[in-house]
Amino acid sequence: MRVAALTENWRLFGWLAAVTSVLVVWPAFRLDLDDSQNALRLIRHSVRCSLPFFLCAFVASAWCRLHPNWWSRWLLRNRRIFGLLFAFAMLWQALFIAQLFVVDAALFREIVLDPRFLLVDGLGYIFIGTMSVTSFNAIRRRMSPTTWKRLHKAGMYYLWLVLAGTYVYVTLLGQFQFSPVALAFVLALVLRIVAARHGHHQVRDAHSSRTLPTA
Ligand code: HEM
Repeated sequence: MRVAALTENWRLFGWLAAVTSVLVVWPAFRLDLDDSQNALRLIRHSVRCSLPFFLCAFVASAWCRLHPNWWSRWLLRNRRIFGLLFAFAMLWQALFIAQLFVVDAALFREIVLDPRFLLVDGLGYIFIGTMSVTSFNAIRRRMSPTTWKRLHKAGMYYLWLVLAGTYVYVTLLGQFQFSPVALAFVLALVLRIVAARHGHHQVRDAHSSRTLPTA
């Protein structure tokens, strides 16, 4: 099999999902899984493993618009795959949340069933689920392009808010080991804003050059 084939589409998904699973599960072999603190550790660890995938999907189109080159085109072409890899890694989080329930139902009720937590994070999973399902062409075709775009845009920004909010917040609380993650999320947003303004200027320039009087 050619190496190039491994870097596109479902093959890319396949091996990256396998590597992610190994990375997520690896610490579990060294931990006592009956300890609820370890379940929490694994929940946090699985979220951290999902972050690079989210960032790749989040910046793909902006990066390609600002700097179209081989890498940015490749990322944009595989943006859906990175989104699905993020969803896949978050499935591991769901699994470890279930494990927390099994090992310590009281702690599960205390942390997970807190209404604020449930509402904010639950909506996150709803977005992840609907965006994943509607990323398949068969379902995408049944939606209007505007609805599809709105759903995916709203979902991306909502997930960005939950994730960036967490890491910026803990950094501000003094956990500076998370500052690179917080910074990466802020820079990703800046990139999208710059790209959107760039696109806006391009459209405006195209309009004004069309309306210039031809001498
Ligand atoms: C109903 C759905 C969800 C539940 C029940 C849940 C549960 C949890 C729990 C129990 C923790 C560990 C908290 C602790 O250590 O005290 C956690 C951490 C976290 N969750 Fe979730 N979660 C959910 C959905 C989500 C979603 C959708 C996102 C974002 C897209 C998310 C992002 C995070 C983050 C960023 C952390 C902290 C990870 C870290 O410490 O690095 N969660 N979650």
